[in-house]
Amino acid sequence: MVRILAIESSCDETSASVCVDGKILSNVIASQSIHEKYGGVVPELASRAHMQKIMPVVQEALSTANCELSTVDAIAFTQAPGLIGALLVGACFAKSLALALNKPLIAVHHMQAHVLANLIADERPGFPFLCLTVSGGHTQIVRCDSASQMTVIGETLDDAAGEAFDKTAKLLGLPYPGGPLIDKHAKLGKPVFEFAEPQIAGLNFSFSGLKTSVLYFLQKQQKADPDFITKNLDDLCASVQDRIISILIHKLQKAVKETGIKNICLAGGVSANSGLRQKFEETGRQKNWKTFIPAFEYCTDNAAMIAITGYYKFLAGEFESLAVSPTARASW
Ligand code: KG4
Ligand code: ZN
Repeated sequence: MVRILAIESSCDETSASVCVDGKILSNVIASQSIHEKYGGVVPELASRAHMQKIMPVVQEALSTANCELSTVDAIAFTQAPGLIGALLVGACFAKSLALALNKPLIAVHHMQAHVLANLIADERPGFPFLCLTVSGGHTQIVRCDSASQMTVIGETLDDAAGEAFDKTAKLLGLPYPGGPLIDKHAKLGKPVFEFAEPQIAGLNFSFSGLKTSVLYFLQKQQKADPDFITKNLDDLCASVQDRIISILIHKLQKAVKETGIKNICLAGGVSANSGLRQKFEETGRQKNWKTFIPAFEYCTDNAAMIAITGYYKFLAGEFESLAVSPTARASW
């Protein structure tokens, strides 16, 4: 039996999870509401909130899983990428536990963990699979040949898909994080406004042009009618969402064509978007893909995905020394 305790603290969620033989027994997530009034995550406040929450969150994860700390076989933690101060809190805590308990330490790459969240459910993709990871900080298409062999075959050249949602939401006067609100309004509207799809070579993405064209469009319309946004909010949200989704799905289709792989997964916070989920599954049915989306709690930042990745690393004997440091940026 392999029992992993995992800790995630890369951004504004403090999370801990216990996983036994690849089964998630607990996944406690404490979100930080303090950032709302600033319109984005404030790194220093995030670090402070992690320090306040990490002890109770770990304790709750252990008690929910009915697990004694002394029975844990290894401690996994998010080593990169993320906010350095936030990562440091989780890393120091994990290293202290590993040292005190004399248990091995497992360093996990946050973006690999988002991909492997697809291995949590009983019905999981066979290898190789492709994963479209869409979050607030990243947008990637990853080819996954095994739990330890992953290659980024496409990624954003500028903003992430989540950022595109959040930044256009801000232009529309919606609070942070705007992604879920765009989703909500889009359900009530129609995509009647046309924003151009960027022509980017290969499997890479670009979202910064969309934000700029929405800005110019709004400025022009508001000159003629100052209430343009209020009157058209639902249709504006539907139009922006529709374009973000088409950019993502077109590149995913291209990746499937180029690789011939038909096991296709979604991951990351933006996969909570109802329009994206619908289009992803509809395209899958049309193109004969086998599609997978993790349960909602495993899509946004969570420690269960760190635990499942830690489990596979444990099986492969991939441990780290106590000298390991977190890093804000990290390639694979
Ligand atoms: O993966 P995640 O929880 O954190 C990062 O690692 O970035 O993703 C957060 C992002 C935010 O940009 C948020 O606006 C977006 O996911 N998001 C959504 C929805 N729910 C969360 N975007 C669109 N529609 C949603 N329903
Ligand atoms: Zn994330």
